[in-house]
Amino acid sequence: MGDEKLNIDPWSSTQSTDYSRIIEQFGLSNLNNLTLPEPSHLHRRGIIFAHRDLDIVLDSQKMGNSFGVLTGLMPSGRMHLGHSMVIEQVKWFQKLGGDVTIAVADLESQATRGVSLAKGREIALNEYVANYAALGLDPNLTNVYFQSTRSEVQRLGFQLGKRTNLSEFESIYGFKGETNLAHVQAPMVQVGDILHPQTDEFGGLRPIVVPVGVDQDPHLRLTRGIASKSNWFNIKDNNGPGILIGLSVQDENAELLGQMPNGRIDKNKVANIFAMIVENLVELGFSDINSNPKQGTIVVPSATKKDMNAIRMKLLQLERQLGGMGLLAPSSTYHHFAVGLTGEKMSSSKPKTTIFLDDDIGTVTKKIKKAYSGGQSTIEEHRRLGGNPDIDVAYQYMMYFFEQDDTYLAEINSDYRNGKILAGEMKQLCIDKATEWMSNHIELRNQTEHMVEEFLALDSR
Ligand code: TRP
Repeated sequence: MGDEKLNIDPWSSTQSTDYSRIIEQFGLSNLNNLTLPEPSHLHRRGIIFAHRDLDIVLDSQKMGNSFGVLTGLMPSGRMHLGHSMVIEQVKWFQKLGGDVTIAVADLESQATRGVSLAKGREIALNEYVANYAALGLDPNLTNVYFQSTRSEVQRLGFQLGKRTNLSEFESIYGFKGETNLAHVQAPMVQVGDILHPQTDEFGGLRPIVVPVGVDQDPHLRLTRGIASKSNWFNIKDNNGPGILIGLSVQDENAELLGQMPNGRIDKNKVANIFAMIVENLVELGFSDINSNPKQGTIVVPSATKKDMNAIRMKLLQLERQLGGMGLLAPSSTYHHFAVGLTGEKMSSSKPKTTIFLDDDIGTVTKKIKKAYSGGQSTIEEHRRLGGNPDIDVAYQYMMYFFEQDDTYLAEINSDYRNGKILAGEMKQLCIDKATEWMSNHIELRNQTEHMVEEFLALDSR
């Protein structure tokens, strides 16, 4: 059982919530190990729980360098509370200075959900972007675009297909012979989404972080693999002290790297490339550099793991100067899924499992009243045994969405556990908070309605 392989299917309506196994099996990093500036309630409460290479982004931010944020939305149904978590993450990055790009996955929605491009656009604007404005994203620092109209995204997706194959798609996504090819192309378009903000046309080389639910991690694994495979210079921890740099010879660069078609090596070209690498390392401040063109390696003995990112960025820049794509593998952060109101998975196709951002207060109240409870079956038992806030939807929704005050939350958590607060009372606390939150949100949506257009990138208006 324990070593059984987990699968993440980004298009499935059921997802594993065995987060520690997900971390372990897919090599995510635990977010506990990083100190975050001004953590949001989602960070403080462990709801955003894992990441890949977030330290690269935070370092960049700390040094006053730029970084980008990219995420996407699937325009297929109404926007619900679960979708707002990604936006909370985006907002946090935006406050830290990240420039934000948001992909409307209209091609993906058409391919996998049968939603027309016109309908996708309408849903994206009226359901999603309208709520983003109300949730407090800054329209001046946010660019929303459509997959169907941004050719750089499609071009990258197509070209980078060279760096993967059907076997990898079978192992990551479980695709089979009968899988529709539009469905196969959707992840490649998403690779284009994720990588295009670092192209020179869309902001240039800088770390890009992708905040998502953990269901999207397969796409990040794919993208990161593709980006590394496309790199011309490999940078590794040396066995022994220092950092080891090697060349990755590919169709695109073979001639430049001195690999002649007849299999011979053009020593002058190799020496030239090695000299350029050394020059770049010197610019970073290293003086002790062992360059060995014959072996095809360069070792920087005094470089440590900490220097790796700076070296990587420098050599990606060099790769670009030489005509390569110079792609940096994206960073990512992941949030837990909030449980559905009924105790099953939250889904926009099952309205009873969630609260939509445009539900009226009456509907919200009714939904919370019926929500799955962690209380005991009789009052007598509840007083004696206490309730379980970990599965109590009313409590969970306060923790995920409605309550900002950690101290108060800890209080009602313990009062619930020891039976002081009854299940019905917990629901009423949640209804009060939800009413306040939703009324505020409705008001903000009315106030920001006119801003929707401003969120759109110029190629998307
Ligand atoms: N596949 C995502 C979803 O189902 C939408 C999406 C498209 C996306 N491109 C993206 C998400 C890039 C993050 C990054 O919701």
